[in-house]
This record gives sequence, C-alpha cells and structure tokens, in this order.
Amino acid sequence: MENVRDRKNESVSCGQDDGILARSMESADWMEQVRNLNTEHVLKTGKVRTYRLDVFGCQMNERDAETIAGMLTNMGYERVSPDQPADIIVFVTCCVRENAEERIYSHIGALSHECLKNGSFIVASGCMMQQPHVTEKIKKSFRHVKVVFGTHNIHEFPRLLCQYLTSGKRVLEVWEKEGRIIEDMPIKRRCRHKAWVNIVFGCNNFCAYCIVPYVRGRERSRKKEDVLAEIRALAADGCREVTLLGQNVNSYGNDLGVKDLFARLLYDIEEIDGIDRVRFTTSHPKDLSDSLIRAMKECKKVCEHLHLPFQAGSNRVLERMNRKYTREHYLDLVDRIRDAVPDIALTTDIIVGFPGETEEDFEDTLDLVRRVRFDSAFTFIYSPRKGTLAEKWEQTAPHEVISRRFKRLVEVQTEIATQLASKYEGKTVEVLVDGPSKTNPDMQSGRTRTGKLVNFRAEGDLTGQMLDVKIIRAGAFWLEGREVKRRG
Ligand code: 5AD
Ligand code: SF4
Repeated sequence: MENVRDRKNESVSCGQDDGILARSMESADWMEQVRNLNTEHVLKTGKVRTYRLDVFGCQMNERDAETIAGMLTNMGYERVSPDQPADIIVFVTCCVRENAEERIYSHIGALSHECLKNGSFIVASGCMMQQPHVTEKIKKSFRHVKVVFGTHNIHEFPRLLCQYLTSGKRVLEVWEKEGRIIEDMPIKRRCRHKAWVNIVFGCNNFCAYCIVPYVRGRERSRKKEDVLAEIRALAADGCREVTLLGQNVNSYGNDLGVKDLFARLLYDIEEIDGIDRVRFTTSHPKDLSDSLIRAMKECKKVCEHLHLPFQAGSNRVLERMNRKYTREHYLDLVDRIRDAVPDIALTTDIIVGFPGETEEDFEDTLDLVRRVRFDSAFTFIYSPRKGTLAEKWEQTAPHEVISRRFKRLVEVQTEIATQLASKYEGKTVEVLVDGPSKTNPDMQSGRTRTGKLVNFRAEGDLTGQMLDVKIIRAGAFWLEGREVKRRG
C-alpha cells in the first residue's frame, strides 16, 4: 500500500513499507531492468555508463554508500574518481549540523553546469532528504537533481532510477517512517581488509540537540545470526577488521527483547577465524554495561579503543541535553573501563555553546577533558536543528564567546593528545595497513589497535597486511614509523 502525499510528477511522496516481503527480491527485479537498459546502451555506443559518489557525514553514511555502490555496480554502472565526469552523481547527505547542509547545497548547486553540459544528473539520498523542507528546496531550486530517496527507502533506489530513466520525469520519494530491515542488498565495499557492519539502525534517545532520531527512525536491531553470517562471509573473503555500527551500539538487541546481546555478539565474533580486530561505534555512556566492559576485557580481538561521547561536562547542561547521565557517572565509567582494559585509548565528541551554557558550565567541560585525558576528541559548536527539542532555545552567550571557548577547548585537547601520543615514541606497534597515505604518497598508512593513524615508509603495496611498526615520531594526529616486520 502506498501513502502518497502528492501523486503528480516530480512529487515528494512517501511510499511506505506495509509488510511486503522479499523487498530485496523486488530490488533485484528493478536492478535487472536498469541493467538491460545499460546493456543496450553499451551495444549502441560502446560506452559503459558511469557514476561517482559524494559521501558526507558519519560511518553509517559511508556504509549506506557501499550499498548504493553495490546496486549501481549490479545495474551495470562503473565507478569513476571524483575528478572525472560521470553519468550519475550520487550524494549521500548529512544534516547533523547546519554547515554540513550548507556545503551539500553548494556542492549540488555547483554541478548544474556539468550536468547540463554532459547530460548527466544527480541522485540525492541520505539523512538530509528525510526533512520535507529540504526535498521542497531540491524540487524547486535544483532541477538537475532527478532522483531523491531517504534513509528508509534506500532499497527502492533501483525502482526510482528505472522510473526516471524510462519516463524522463524526476522521481522524489522519501519514506516518512522506518520499515523493516532488509537483508541481502548488494554491497560494494570500499576495501577488502576492513569492513563496516551495521548492527542496529536508528536511535531512541532524543538528545535535545540531535536530528538523528528524526531522520534515521527508532532503533531496529539486526538479528545476531544475520550479523554473524555477514562477518563470517567477510572473513572468508579476506577481511581482517570489522567495525560494528549503530547510533547506540550499547542498546543492540533491546528492541528484540534480549538482554546484553551486544556483549554476547562480541563473544561470538571472537570465535570467527580470520577476523583479527573488532571495533564498534558509537557507545552511549548511559547504556554501557558491566557485561560489555567484561567482554571488552576478555575478547582479545576487541581493539583497545573506545569512542565514548560525553558532549558536555556540566550536569546542568547534560540534563538539558537529555543525556540521562551525570559527569560523575561518566568519570566512574571511565575508571571502570580503564581498570578492565588499562591501555585503552578513549576518544569522544564534545559540543560547545549549547543554549544556556555559562562560563562555569564550559569550565566543567574543560575540567572533564583534563581529568579523562582523551586520545582525541571531535569538537563541535552547537548548531540548532529544525524539529529538535532545543531548536528554539535561546542562545545566551554571544557568538564570539562561544568561538573563544571552542578555541580554548581545542588547545587543551591538542596538548593532551600530543602528550599521550609521545608515549608511542620508540615503541613497536601492530599496524593494519590501509594503503598509500592520503597526504604523502611516498608513505603507507594504517592504524594501530588503539585507532592511531601511522604513516611509514615501506617498499611495495602492503595494503591489508598486519605489520610491526616502530614509532620514530609522534604528533597529536598521527605517528611516523618504520616497518620492523610483517606479521602476515
Ligand atoms: N550541533 C552540534 N553538534 C552536534 N552533534 C550532533 N548534533 C549536533 C548539533 N545540533 C554532534 C554530537 C554527536 C556528533 C556525531 O555530532 O557531538 O555525538
Ligand atoms: Fe543523536 Fe543522542 Fe541518538 Fe547519538 S544518542 S544519535 S547524539 S540522539
């Protein structure tokens, strides 16, 4: 059944899942139809149609982009690099802060000339598209965007694309609500040796500043057997590291009515041959359980790194943010985690300038940063988001004051990160190689178990190999090393 707001061409509609089974099967049929169109095109012109992907935001979006790439490959499209012309330009968008949205509008706008010149078009997807005011703006102001879908109907992309290709009319369809989880969609992974694996979609927490629950829906956990089957298949294909993904991985399984399922999942992954490293993100301090801490201690494959956003150091601000924990709880949690896993690297997210934040509140944030001593932190200036609880709350501090606070926080954190990194100098660490460094092509780069970026000089392509690397220089953001030996 369809619940369509507007049936006219170029409509923004919200077709909705209504218990229809075998959705991936349906997608497969639509993919076949587009594939046939593309085969005809190759026979006629000798040219393969191409796409490029522009991904914004978090790892969820990166993972969604792999599904979109998988569908496009299945439909006969070939991926080209970002600087090359393409028949389809796909945007996977983010709306977590206003500056992300502004950047996306400006990127999309700047492509109108290219689209006109090359006869190409834009497909816009992801979190930003879940907001009706955005799809309205796209519809009115960006005529070169021909296909739009949201986070809840990615699997419908082949149908929407087919509809556009055969009718020439723009197709904008966004589901208002989440549907059931669809397994077995095609995936084209970014690399072979490491992979993102979704375990839970959506979020139930409604932190006052955050748009995510509105654009990604309520929590839905994948079945443990499905997650394990995916990881086994990855291992058989040469994958060595998995990162389990969820807005709040600690509540994995709650919607299935199973307690402590996340910890149990970690023990099960521990048994999978071929997987050497397990990571997960993101954890919520209110839900991180003792059984998880025990699993992190006992499972040797679980890396010594935890991303644990604290957002604000003042109890008053935490309460207004609806975070449901106190600074005392957070500090106690950190102590318990460090007792269990002494060398663990801790990273975090911090928001500066939440409405009503006073100088004293901000000092509490700095104090917490100094006490915990994070290996690194993602720091953000608060950005009001449409539809969230805090959207209309009055901002009491002037912009210059907030900027100054932000700068101070970054200085304090960078100093701590530099001090902590210096401990790596002279040590030999295990590095899983990702390939040539993005900033220095003469070097290769990879990550330690603690998540630190390591650049080092070495002969040949070592992508996917596990090495022992001796650290010769350490900075706040990356380490420089020298290869000692290959582990395999
Ligand atoms: N303004 C600033 N930062 C935000 N984040 C989420 N919403 C906002 C917002 N409205 C930050 C939080 C979250 C991270 C992914 O983005 O710190 O943990
Ligand atoms: Fe946003 Fe809070 Fe959910 Fe994280 S836990 S996605 S910050 S609402």
